[in-house]
Amino acid sequence: MLFLFAMYPIHSFDTVPSTNSLAKKLAKNGAPHGTAVIAANQTEGRGRLGKNWHSVVNKGLYCSIIVRPRLAVQDFPKITLAAGLGVAEAIDRIAGGFSQLKWPNDIFLDGKKCGGILTESSALNEPEIQRFAVIGIGLNLSSSLEDFPEDLRRKVTSIFLQTGTCPDASHVFLTLRDEVLQQLELFYSDGFRSILAAWKQRDFLLGKHMECVGSDGKIITGVSLGPDEEGQLHVKDGDGQIHTVLSGDISLAGKE
Ligand code: BTN
Repeated sequence: MLFLFAMYPIHSFDTVPSTNSLAKKLAKNGAPHGTAVIAANQTEGRGRLGKNWHSVVNKGLYCSIIVRPRLAVQDFPKITLAAGLGVAEAIDRIAGGFSQLKWPNDIFLDGKKCGGILTESSALNEPEIQRFAVIGIGLNLSSSLEDFPEDLRRKVTSIFLQTGTCPDASHVFLTLRDEVLQQLELFYSDGFRSILAAWKQRDFLLGKHMECVGSDGKIITGVSLGPDEEGQLHVKDGDGQIHTVLSGDISLAGKE
């Protein structure tokens, strides 16, 4: 079903394999900036690093927003940080708490994962006019711990578990979409610095001991110094050496 709210099209479904996959198809076919796909359930929801995203039917928000960024190709990875900030602002408005961000794409409430972002782009060598990014957002709204596989239960939370109330998915979506698009506008107009400054206020990992597997497969253990002006995470190891983490899985040392 397609309906229009404000000026951005919304494609709404009961069940899809993955809202990101569908959004990418729409974007390739020319869907405009701000178009969104939203579903009550996903059968093949995807997370970062080839992981699955556990979509609890009717108890979460699963959506993807197509953006046509006015950014240089090398700045595309920063979109996830700007989007995370938008999601965090939206959650705070809805749940009345203070959400945190775990580099690069996790949304945390009370020290546990409440949501995640998977940003996927068109081939970056596409002509500028055809370039797009799809910002996929999964958020645990009214799920209980029993809705998750046992191995995830000590790491996850939902807005319901934090506040005792079940937020309306459409309301959350509209708030979140507007915040995400607004943060991107701020990125274009004021540059990444203003995004970074606000992001650092919510940095869950800052000063914590952590372990990360870099994209080269090597394990780095150290203290997180937060992301730099390129959006890349810096970690100081026991010898005082500073490493740049490009991507990879991050866990708190000795915890996960
Ligand atoms: C992560 O934590 O690794 C990112 C999870 C992103 C999940 C969302 S749910 C909506 C959208 N569609 C997908 O297939 N994935 C993203």
